[in-house]
Amino acid sequence: MPNLPPKRIRWSELLDDLTDTDRNRSIVIERTTETERMAIFLLRRDNWSVRSVSGVQREYNLELFKYRRQIAAKVVNQRNKVSLGQIEKFIDFLSGESSADFDGGICISTTGFTRSVYSYLRDENITNLKLAILEGSELHWNCEEFDHEKERNRSTYIGVFTCKGGVGKTTIAAHLAGAFALNGYDVSLVDLDRQRNMQKLLGKGVYLPPAGGRKGARIDVIIPGETNGTSDRKTKFVICDCNPEFDGNPTGFLRRFDYCIVPTSLSPLGINKNADVIKRTFDLIRKENTKAQLFVLINGLQSEEKKRNHLLNQVLKTEFEALSNKDSRCRYVDPDEVAIRFSKQLLYWGFHLFDGTSPTLAFRTYGRYSHPRMDFLKLVDYLERHTDIENDRSVAARF
Ligand SMILES: Nc1ncnc2c1ncn2[C@@H]1O[C@H](COP(=O)(O)OP(=O)(O)OP(=O)(O)O)[C@@H](O)[C@H]1O
Ligand SMILES: [Mg+2]
Repeated sequence: MPNLPPKRIRWSELLDDLTDTDRNRSIVIERTTETERMAIFLLRRDNWSVRSVSGVQREYNLELFKYRRQIAAKVVNQRNKVSLGQIEKFIDFLSGESSADFDGGICISTTGFTRSVYSYLRDENITNLKLAILEGSELHWNCEEFDHEKERNRSTYIGVFTCKGGVGKTTIAAHLAGAFALNGYDVSLVDLDRQRNMQKLLGKGVYLPPAGGRKGARIDVIIPGETNGTSDRKTKFVICDCNPEFDGNPTGFLRRFDYCIVPTSLSPLGINKNADVIKRTFDLIRKENTKAQLFVLINGLQSEEKKRNHLLNQVLKTEFEALSNKDSRCRYVDPDEVAIRFSKQLLYWGFHLFDGTSPTLAFRTYGRYSHPRMDFLKLVDYLERHTDIENDRSVAARF
């Protein structure tokens, strides 16, 4: 008997009969993914016989049998929705000769499908491919409706992150949430930083004072993995104050970010260093999240220094252009349009920890107006213009 290479089999094939040749070979069990195993389990529960062919170069990874019907199934587990390009080959396969043994195909995704997938299948009248979404321990077959429903109920996540410490992440996260709330958005704050600064500053949350005949909104502070104890609200916007050490942030949250604000400063010594920090920050975010739109925002701007700021801004902007050429989903928020100015209110934000008063945001008016309130409202305006967050304004959904 020649020395045969080990036979690679999947978990799901363990109970299949071995051929005589296989009895004389060593067996290597290839681990199917958790998702694939869950899909197999659910399909078997629906009385399908399932055989995994993962590991073999095919357009599908499961073969399903029921009532003499044979179906090719493709299980996709990825961070983003399955796009048309990703299943184009599977569609071609199902309409080609090599799929002659099959009566049709199923694509199972854990994140859903883009709208183009649904439109294409509908417009081309493709009936031999069914789509399903695997969520938790359920397979949803009416998945277009399920996808849209999920989109409607889904929160929008905004991370505030830079890998440099002390540049205003916590300050920006809190006040951006405040400005969203002032504009009638339903918002909560998540403290991802292990130092728990947000929680130290705001406890379980903060109320905005009532204004203009409107009731003051409440912004809850949530610690991942802990129940807030005060409310079970699921808000439309979730603003995350990140840990400056990237790996200290839970991956689950990093992947959920739709947008990310990257604060930086406009100082001569910092410019080159900051451009490096921004680059490193982008690289880190992209390790986990390829879809989030990234916004570089100047914090602590000394607004009266117009000439110097103009020059420094030109330099940083040029540095940034090199980055945006490589990554189209990033934007430099020009400080001529929006920046967070240096202000005493923001510097002493948190003073309540020392004078024993209750937590507030730095939106109080001194003299004519509050700089932070103006700046953060302008930031929300900016985000509304450059993203589609405005469509997400709708009020709280209960879990
Ligand atoms: N625009 C501003 N004007 C004045 N002071 C500011 C401004 N932004 C932030 N600060 C002050 O800078 C300090 C650091 O800010 P903050 O704690 O928000 O930074 P951070 O990036 O969250 O820090 P860490 O990396 O430690 O989490 C705070 O004392 C804050 O009050
Ligand atoms: Mg912080």
